[in-house]
Amino acid sequence: MSRLLIVYHSKNGHTAALTEAVVAGSRHPEIDVEVRIRLAREAVADDVLWCDAIVLGTPENFGYMSGGLKDFFDRTYYPLEGRVEGLPYAVFISAGNDGEGALTSIRRIVRGYPFREVHDPVICRGEPDPNMLEACEALGTFMAAGVEARLF
Ligand SMILES: Cc1cc2nc3c(=O)[nH]c(=O)nc-3n(C[C@H](O)[C@H](O)[C@H](O)COP(=O)(O)O)c2cc1C
Repeated sequence: MSRLLIVYHSKNGHTAALTEAVVAGSRHPEIDVEVRIRLAREAVADDVLWCDAIVLGTPENFGYMSGGLKDFFDRTYYPLEGRVEGLPYAVFISAGNDGEGALTSIRRIVRGYPFREVHDPVICRGEPDPNMLEACEALGTFMAAGVEARLF
């Protein structure tokens, strides 16, 4: 069965709420994909080796990704070097009013693995609202359908 990994960090719950929507979307009744959800601080290189695609979720903190997600990259970069080339990925971000800094920082780092972006980033500003949750759900469905159909 195809495998989707979702790695996220959330301090105050907004990104966690978006993650729930991504997970809900990925568990679409017509899609048969194994979904693994990991807090960024608990995610390890083997989780990445396990998956066919990865979704990364983070708040924007100080114009950057969260420390938790950065720590995930710091811990997995060398163990994964040369082993995950072209892994399909997508990003969702919870921000107060921006989100571009988090996106830029993630894109710069994943270029080193290198992962391959297969969906436009979903940037949610402010409290998660129904439209944002819907966008995250759609992202989860897209990623799950993509790995199941081996589209990426
Ligand atoms: C320490 C800190 C730094 C932040 N820096 C930014 C920032 O640079 N840009 C921005 O748009 N929002 C910023 N925010 C707002 C958060 O990104 C926003 O509240 C987000 O929804 C938090 O997600 P979480 O509830 O999953 O932790 C910051 C919040 C905190 C606590």
